Amino acid sequence: MPADWLHPALRFAQYAALLGLFGATAFHALRLRPLVGDTGTMRLRPIAIAAVAAPVISLAAMLVGIAAMMGQPLHDLDLATIQSLVLATQPGWAFLVRSALLVLALAALLLIKPMAPRQIAAASCYALALSTLAWTGHAAATEGVLGLVHRLNDALHLWAAGLWIGAICWFTTLVFAAHRNPDRGQSERLLVAMEGFAPLGMTLVGIVAMTGILNAHFIFGLENGVAVLNTPYGLLLAGKMLLVASMLMCAARNAGIVRPNGGIRRVGAVRSDGTLTALRTSLAAELLLAILVLMLVALTGLASPME
Ligand code: HEM
Repeated sequence: MPADWLHPALRFAQYAALLGLFGATAFHALRLRPLVGDTGTMRLRPIAIAAVAAPVISLAAMLVGIAAMMGQPLHDLDLATIQSLVLATQPGWAFLVRSALLVLALAALLLIKPMAPRQIAAASCYALALSTLAWTGHAAATEGVLGLVHRLNDALHLWAAGLWIGAICWFTTLVFAAHRNPDRGQSERLLVAMEGFAPLGMTLVGIVAMTGILNAHFIFGLENGVAVLNTPYGLLLAGKMLLVASMLMCAARNAGIVRPNGGIRRVGAVRSDGTLTALRTSLAAELLLAILVLMLVALTGLASPME
């Protein structure tokens, strides 16, 4: 069997890469072009690195998952076993579709020159690749029509979470850059963009919460919530809820910094009142909490709500 930490670590890397890539490309296409422009190559470099790594991580996660399922060391896996499990199971097909979409997204990022169609094509591929995760794990265990509803609900959970994470990544990057190279005009535009994000941000939080609760109901039935809390699965889920609540506190703090006292932000107050310094800390904390959420999710998917 592979080392105990390897499977959850690769699951975490896969969630981080796919959610980050979908969120970052979609959020850039939807909201940020006026702010970042077509020239932010330096800022797009992490996306390019993650885009190359994503298919490799997905392949490694699939192989280690098969080894763990078979109770075999990774190097003992033979091609016939891998082939039969990939071609004969739903998670296997989900992996094949995911791999194709990740390669297509990478090709879009490398080959399409104009920024807008490039980001839209890549974001669409990443959205579909992300949704294939719902055909693996607990969401894939529900059968029939209810199973399809569970998977679609899970895909919506992943898309909303991805956009939220993409927004945090972009705003953190841009606030750190604005803090390093002060430019009052650019900083003002950044704060206006953050202010404009509030309604979308609240919608995303609402969708993540609703689809998350529905997910829980599909997996163990909310009426069994107290019993599930006595299992390691339940504790991991409760830990995730605490982290998500802390993320919401950071988001509320960001909104409070961008619009102090819920009022109109004073134009020109960007540098003098330490706005960027406060935002930097708050956004970095929100990003760290999101990473911890994904670590817990990587473990939750491997635990059973029944024991
Ligand atoms: C009130 C908020 C939330 C609730 C109630 C909730 C609930 C859930 C539940 C019950 C699952 C299924 C776990 C399993 O596989 O057994 C899940 C999956 C997941 N959640 Fe959440 N969640 C919430 C917020 C978030 C946030 C904020 C993020 C990201 C930062 C997130 C990311 C994920 C991911 C990546 C999965 C795995 C989906 C998959 O592999 O199919 N969730 N969530």
